[in-house]
Amino acid sequence: MKRPFHGAVWQWHQDFPTYHHDDAMPEPRLVNALVFIDEVREFNGPLMIIPASHKAPAYETAVDDTTTSYPLRAADEKVVAKLAGERGIEAPKGDPGSAIFAHTNIVHGSGTNMSPWPRTLASITYNAIDNKPGRSRRPDWVVRRDFEVLEPVVPPI
Ligand SMILES: [Fe+2]
Repeated sequence: MKRPFHGAVWQWHQDFPTYHHDDAMPEPRLVNALVFIDEVREFNGPLMIIPASHKAPAYETAVDDTTTSYPLRAADEKVVAKLAGERGIEAPKGDPGSAIFAHTNIVHGSGTNMSPWPRTLASITYNAIDNKPGRSRRPDWVVRRDFEVLEPVVPPI
């Protein structure tokens, strides 16, 4: 969530290095679904991604808990500059209900929200059931430990 006028920065990063080092997850076999709760425009801190950067390796970095609004393993600036120079940067925008699906290794980040409008996303991460995290430093509401396979529900006709 990026609140109006003061929405904070998320540094450039990939998600998998955090899952791997902090949650003991074996493989980058995850996809993130980011659903826009608010309208996302260029003014309210849209997510920025480097297209096809998930094909680059997962970079090993230290946890950054000083220059970002959430402790994460920020990507090296030289790596970001190289990838952005080759592939550009996109900032998907859209109405509430729009969604982005992104591989866990996509390089992404977002700037501040100085606009008077909020920018809230619902982030849901889907993982292969045989790619369970191990011990995690993060709470259950961030890294779920219920690996019960979901059963499809057929609604009554
Ligand atoms: Fe992320």
